[in-house]
Amino acid sequence: MSEKNISMAVIRRLPKYHRYLGDLLDKDIQRISSKELSEIIGFTASQIRQDLNNFGGFGQQGYGYNVEALHQEIGKILGLDKVYNAIVIGAGNLGQAISNYAGFKKAGFEIKALFDVNPRMIGIKMRDFEILDSEEAEDFVRKNNIDIAIVCIPKKGAQEIVDRLIGAGIKGVWNFAPIDLQVPKHIVVENVNLTESLYTLSYLMKDNE
Ligand code: NAI
Repeated sequence: MSEKNISMAVIRRLPKYHRYLGDLLDKDIQRISSKELSEIIGFTASQIRQDLNNFGGFGQQGYGYNVEALHQEIGKILGLDKVYNAIVIGAGNLGQAISNYAGFKKAGFEIKALFDVNPRMIGIKMRDFEILDSEEAEDFVRKNNIDIAIVCIPKKGAQEIVDRLIGAGIKGVWNFAPIDLQVPKHIVVENVNLTESLYTLSYLMKDNE
């Protein structure tokens, strides 16, 4: 099956496989059965076999999965065999928290700059960056080969700056603004909404009562 035919539901589970397999590698565990994987990940063994069969089935009867090969292959499918350059738009609470998190760089997403529109914010030095004027963002994207814009501003103004950055060459948007961005077909938007996640938590807690 080609990667294009893998369902979004499977794609959404791949980062979790990747993370757990990475943890196993850190512990020097080289092989694992679908049953053992099921115990640590929480998906059923048959779900795991079905998911991993989508791209050639790395399991061998009586052996299980080769952790390193599977980790590498899933990484490749997720496009993690390259490094992405990103910028953050909006240097408020969220933008600063994201920029300060060192884990993204380790995962292959390098944040190169942080931009804001507020003159009082521009020029403030943070751990790795100085906050830059968002007027300069397009130029920065062009000169620094930026792939991803991480949008951490309110709804107002988000579409406008995203349009400008697309014009300058970004290919993906990690969007935290509470707005459904309109983008051309070749641009990918991944929306993140922590409040929606809290609603799910609320629902599950209600279920437990
Ligand atoms: P904040 O008010 O601390 O920071 C927003 C920053 O964006 C300010 O520094 C402001 O000057 C800047 N800004 C506004 N318009 C801009 C523009 N057009 N270009 C460049 N910079 C601009 O707010 P906070 O707490 O950091 O939240 C930012 C946004 O993210 C909010 O709209 C909020 O709704 C959203 N948010 C989303 C979450 C999610 O899970 N999706 C979680 C938390 C916040």
